[in-house]
Amino acid sequence: MKKVGIIGVGEYLPERILTNSDLEKMVDTSDEWITTRTGIKKRHLAAVGQAASDLALKAAQQALENAKLKAEDLDLIVVATITGDMPFPSVASIIQDKLGAKKAACFDISAACAGFVYGLSVAEKFIATATYKNALVIGTEVLTSITDWQDRNTCVLFGDGAGAVVLSEVKKGGIISTYLGCDGSKSGILNMPAGGSRNPATSETVRNRQHYLKMQGNELFKIAVNTMTDAAETVLKQAGMTFADINLIIPHQANARIIMAVAKKLGIPQDRVYLNIERCGNMSSASTVTALCEAVQEGKIKKGDIILLDAFGAGLVWGACIIEW
Ligand code: UT7
Repeated sequence: MKKVGIIGVGEYLPERILTNSDLEKMVDTSDEWITTRTGIKKRHLAAVGQAASDLALKAAQQALENAKLKAEDLDLIVVATITGDMPFPSVASIIQDKLGAKKAACFDISAACAGFVYGLSVAEKFIATATYKNALVIGTEVLTSITDWQDRNTCVLFGDGAGAVVLSEVKKGGIISTYLGCDGSKSGILNMPAGGSRNPATSETVRNRQHYLKMQGNELFKIAVNTMTDAAETVLKQAGMTFADINLIIPHQANARIIMAVAKKLGIPQDRVYLNIERCGNMSSASTVTALCEAVQEGKIKKGDIILLDAFGAGLVWGACIIEW
């Protein structure tokens, strides 16, 4: 098996910003409630007409540039998203064309907030087995396109953005261990009820607001803390490591309270946890990868550092990954 590592990172956050005080004018909420319950202050919003592939393209271009590769060098494009441009074709296919990555095989992954870790794990196997040489893994979301702006329980949480990494063979370090899991029995806790084959779009599904994300947040909170803790412990055990070996945790950014509760359970100090939730909100599959990208760009990750990615979301699915940078 070949060693596989991240050789380039990229990020794109749309220009429009929605602050907590903007939300105060839209629903019965307050900056104080949102800040103390979630840690979010603002989030980025895609422009009207800007789709998941538009965000992904900019992140992908930056990642390729950072990796010093050309689009033609890519053998594989994997896009994690739950808000693709349309149900089909895949965002990966659209990106292939826009980038000019003519020889790349392409597909999307639907694993919600754990999508980037799922994508990373799948792409890694293609390179480790020498099937492919270079892969692009993207997490991109326009979550605000499925946000119910009348529902204060959910509309204060989400934002739009995209992050991308280029994976390739490395001589030293790279991905040490990945762990993926799912509990499908709890799929009803977080979903979008209509628009698929169960409830195709009708005027009634639109009237009943079934094309928006629905979430039992309180129920999910406890599961998220326990599952992210378990996932981190499992992947570390697989790698034969302990938390003392980890330089930085990059968690999925659903709620700062969830992240800090996980860090506390794991005995990891707050300064070893990377957060971008205050500026970006929850961007589902884009959260973990943009946080990783920002941590690299801010110099918080140095060569040789051990990084733990830890994500959880609708499915319910989870994924964790240890990388030597
Ligand atoms: O990314 C995928 C995974 N996502 C998650 O894991 C999200 C997990 N859940 C959460 O992050 C939190 O549960 C929320 C942030 C969604 C909610 O926080 P909470 O502390 O669990 O609040 P709650 O749902 O228990 O609601 C507490 C109160 C309720 O009022 P009553 O019934 O006590 O009178 C809500 O109606 O807060 C009320 N509330 C709000 N108040 C002001 C709910 N949303 C708002 C709001 N502004 N935006």
